[in-house]
Amino acid sequence: MEAPIAKTMKLYSRVVTTTIPAATTTNNKNNTTAPVEKFFKLLLTFFIMLGLSGLVLYQYAYPSPFYQRSYSQSFSPRNPMKENQSSPSRGALQGNKISPSNDTTPGKQISPGNDDKTLEKVLDQAAMEDKTVIITTLNAAWTEPNSIFDFFLESFTIGNGTKNLLKHVIVIAFDAKAYFRCLAVHTNCYALKTEGIDFADEAIFMTKDYLKMMWTRIDFLISVLEIGYNFVFTDADVMWLRNPFHRFYSNVDFQIACDHYWFNSTDLHNSPNGGFNYVRSNNRTIQFYKFWYKSKDKFPGKHDQDVLNMIKFDPFINKIGLEIRFLDTAYFGGFCEPSKDLNLVCTMHANCCIGLDNKIHDLKMVIDDWKNYMSMPGHEKFTKIINWTVPRRCF
Ligand SMILES: *[C@@H]1O[C@H](CO)[C@@H](O)[C@H](O)[C@H]1NC(C)=O
Ligand SMILES: *[C@@H]1O[C@H](CO)[C@@H](O)[C@H](O)[C@H]1NC(C)=O
Ligand SMILES: *[C@@H]1O[C@H](CO)[C@@H](O)[C@H](O)[C@H]1NC(C)=O
Ligand SMILES: *[C@@H]1O[C@H](CO)[C@@H](O)[C@H](O)[C@H]1NC(C)=O
Ligand SMILES: *[C@@H]1O[C@H](CO)[C@@H](O)[C@H](O)[C@H]1NC(C)=O
Ligand SMILES: *[C@@H]1O[C@H](CO)[C@@H](O)[C@H](O)[C@H]1NC(C)=O
Repeated sequence: MEAPIAKTMKLYSRVVTTTIPAATTTNNKNNTTAPVEKFFKLLLTFFIMLGLSGLVLYQYAYPSPFYQRSYSQSFSPRNPMKENQSSPSRGALQGNKISPSNDTTPGKQISPGNDDKTLEKVLDQAAMEDKTVIITTLNAAWTEPNSIFDFFLESFTIGNGTKNLLKHVIVIAFDAKAYFRCLAVHTNCYALKTEGIDFADEAIFMTKDYLKMMWTRIDFLISVLEIGYNFVFTDADVMWLRNPFHRFYSNVDFQIACDHYWFNSTDLHNSPNGGFNYVRSNNRTIQFYKFWYKSKDKFPGKHDQDVLNMIKFDPFINKIGLEIRFLDTAYFGGFCEPSKDLNLVCTMHANCCIGLDNKIHDLKMVIDDWKNYMSMPGHEKFTKIINWTVPRRCF
């Protein structure tokens, strides 16, 4: 159960570092050529670099539908010259980013500070060495002071060995208020605009907006995988109390926490919870996420987690060879099934809880329980089993 990721991802970084400098060298040799020629050579080099890095990152040569995703337009940088460093993909393939043009990019609503925040740049900024990021999504209702987002951030600082993970957390904001709140208290923020929807209010469980928000998230995560980043997706109502990487399975494509952990980790009959999972970027996971997302049309009115439960036995999963593991609630607990021993717990999720006020109330208790636990003398901590006082108002 050692942290596994380094192996594959080393491969990525090795390839990247060998291809890109090669292109840069070509570039330097051309310093003496005439300006026009030089410009075109630069341009060419630029495209070659893009092509190469695209190849490496995507691992396959055909252009991906990622470029057509509507949200990706919304917050792309408006200063085209900034694109060179940050984005290895989209802008250049659209072919309009090299020559200066008037600022007509849509998505101005969430404007200041967003200029060079392409997704690629935010991912790059936040990633661990092995290209893994921690992603959460937020809307305005969860960012009120003393609300979920504050608890989420606090958990990293009071958790044991989790503080250093904060710099790898990317907050995906669904609306302007969440975005600005993120900017005020956190480094890695990304605004994700969804056409025709304002996610600012509390998205009531299973309403149309709630569903849309959940599916937008799956769609977004496809992009992250396609760009070549592994991720831990975490709902913001998951408290991070110990470093989960010590408990993840090695070399597994897709591992996911459970509402109820009934069986062993490979048994598909477990009840997964879509609010916490660890996914490695590869062809299988990209295909799987696309399949998951597409399946929403087969099961209208269902949220991602329900659909996951329906597709987890689908022969397609076997066909693509996706390896799935379910994470034990002893380490990755929630209000549905709390970890029984605080000496083991990594994360605590406010699942099985409907209503923002209830959630906030019980999460506050989680934070207090944990602080009490951490302030106990060592011998007391480890010599008895220490229990949560939650859930109280949830479920
Ligand atoms: C990006 O372009 C700017 C302006 O032309 C330049 O100063 C900068 O060095 C470039 N960065 C890279 C990584 O090419
Ligand atoms: C940019 O827009 C302004 C005003 O809309 C216009 O006068 C100008 O010609 C445009 N420039 C380019 C390069 O399109
Ligand atoms: C916290 O982490 C340190 C270092 O890994 C460990 O020695 C200590 O026992 C941990 N404390 C708790 C309460 O888990
Ligand atoms: C775990 O579950 C899998 C899938 O149902 C099963 O094949 C395997 O025998 C189980 N292992 C144990 C130790 O029960
Ligand atoms: C990746 O998946 C595509 C189908 O989406 C398939 O055509 C391709 O052969 C796969 N590549 C590898 C290396 O498995
Ligand atoms: C944890 O607390 C619950 C109720 O608060 C109790 O039913 C359960 O037995 C406790 N578990 C342990 C291991 O102490």
